[in-house]
Amino acid sequence: MAGSYMKMTISDSIEFDDLQGLFRFGFGRLTETCFMLLGIADVDAAKQWLAKVEPGNAVSVAPPPDTALQIAFSVQGLRVLGVRESVVEGFSDEFIVGMSGDESRSRRLGDIGDSAPEQWDWGGGDTEVPHVLLMLYAGDGKIEDWRRSVQTAQFSQAFRLLRQLPTLYIGPIEPFGFPDGISQPDIDWGSEQSTDLHERDRYSNRLAIGEVVLGYRNEYGLYTDRPLIDAGSDADAAHLPDAEDLPGLKDFGRNGSYLVLRQLKQDVPGFWRFVDEAAGSVPEARETLAAAMVGRDLNGRPLVSPDTPGVPGEGPANDFTYDQDPAGHRCPIGAHIRRSNPRNGDFPAGVTGLLSRLIKILGFGQNRADEDLIASTRFHRLLRRGRSYGPVLEPEEALGPDPPAAERGLQFICLVASISRQFEFVQNAWSMSSRFGGVQNESDPLLGHRAPLTSGEPTDQFNQQVPMGPVRKTCHLPRFVTVRGGGYFFMPGIRALRYIAAVRVNAGDNQ
Ligand code: HEM
Repeated sequence: MAGSYMKMTISDSIEFDDLQGLFRFGFGRLTETCFMLLGIADVDAAKQWLAKVEPGNAVSVAPPPDTALQIAFSVQGLRVLGVRESVVEGFSDEFIVGMSGDESRSRRLGDIGDSAPEQWDWGGGDTEVPHVLLMLYAGDGKIEDWRRSVQTAQFSQAFRLLRQLPTLYIGPIEPFGFPDGISQPDIDWGSEQSTDLHERDRYSNRLAIGEVVLGYRNEYGLYTDRPLIDAGSDADAAHLPDAEDLPGLKDFGRNGSYLVLRQLKQDVPGFWRFVDEAAGSVPEARETLAAAMVGRDLNGRPLVSPDTPGVPGEGPANDFTYDQDPAGHRCPIGAHIRRSNPRNGDFPAGVTGLLSRLIKILGFGQNRADEDLIASTRFHRLLRRGRSYGPVLEPEEALGPDPPAAERGLQFICLVASISRQFEFVQNAWSMSSRFGGVQNESDPLLGHRAPLTSGEPTDQFNQQVPMGPVRKTCHLPRFVTVRGGGYFFMPGIRALRYIAAVRVNAGDNQ
């Protein structure tokens, strides 16, 4: 759901001091991380610790701190800490049910076979549900001291460490070797850009705050649903921010968001061996095919416009669209970055006039194969905040006779105001779907599970569109990425965190 109606007169000024810093900074400078999944062992001790803990906020300070702590909760964690069921019900269904809580969701996310929740190391099957996700960040060589200083006696009484997730900084690349973290939405912190449908025919990287932070206007100009509390019936809610759209109610979601975490294991030797074989063991052809699968080359240059200069200090180019390459001749339609952000405006080229706009908004009137599912990118953006794990393995080393064995992958993290409209839509309709933008029999070349459809149609191809020639097909792609764990968390604003710490267990309607 897009959310409730709002009044255009209300100010959207962002409260950086109430927002956890991860939204704004990503903490790229803090290369060392420690991600902990915690169970609550002692509710009172946990509440006392939560009342005092200081997550780094989003206020910009000079020099920036060299450590940071960020915190998020699963729905089970909120319940154990006493958040009332009437409040929990205000969260989205997918958060309440959980990433692995329903078989049809797992199927839609592509979590089948080796990636099925029953196979996960955490977050699925019989594994203990984490209550809290604690993320520590520190500069070079500082993480152990930082971790020790956070893990006080009270902390150890309050929480049980269920799992410390592996992370390892290997430079600004992901384990296959491609530069990562280049493209991010440019959050419109000043609420300067119109969200009016009529003014957004073209792609813009600017995104309304409400797409990644709850309690602010989203790209529909509305407020995404989140728990609102009547302070009259809950004294603990007095210090929560007011709901902008519904004065009189307290906004438990404001300055918070959903955090999606997936541990994705990458088969680095498998990836490079497959690509090498498909390219006839010609090094340049190998790199060309791998780049086609990603949509950027090993230097991060976008295939659709490799000559666009990067921004000094910010890395490779990101100011491009696929408008000049509708047939996928320069960047294949099914490349990972083209599937995960097709960079289009609200209407396919050539749609003008009120009636045809209305027809498109309602999803009718599709007359070109490439119009399926790829309109209106701005409603499906993700703020990615993941970290890699496992030691570096260069492509040449991966192709050697005995590449050093180790698990490598990505702790994929994204922040979104709507799990279903943003993360699940991208994962399901764009990454996993075997039909996308007019191509078929393939899914995301990096992420796909490769299982055939129930109709028997294959999904394990990768097609490169070629000018004046037949599509260049690469067949029988194996699975390169396997899900090892995952969960949906709520990353609260700092006042909402204090509410969680203060709310009295059994005070309300939890029984
Ligand atoms: C192990 C798994 C993955 C790998 C190796 C991977 C790799 C990459 C690489 C190399 C880029 C290009 C660099 C950049 O623009 O930052 C990229 C971009 C991106 N990826 Fe992934 N990715 C993975 C999983 C995912 C998942 C699960 C999603 C979402 C469901 C996702 C969504 C995106 C998005 C939205 C972009 C930016 C596209 C753009 O704006 O141009 N990725 N990824």
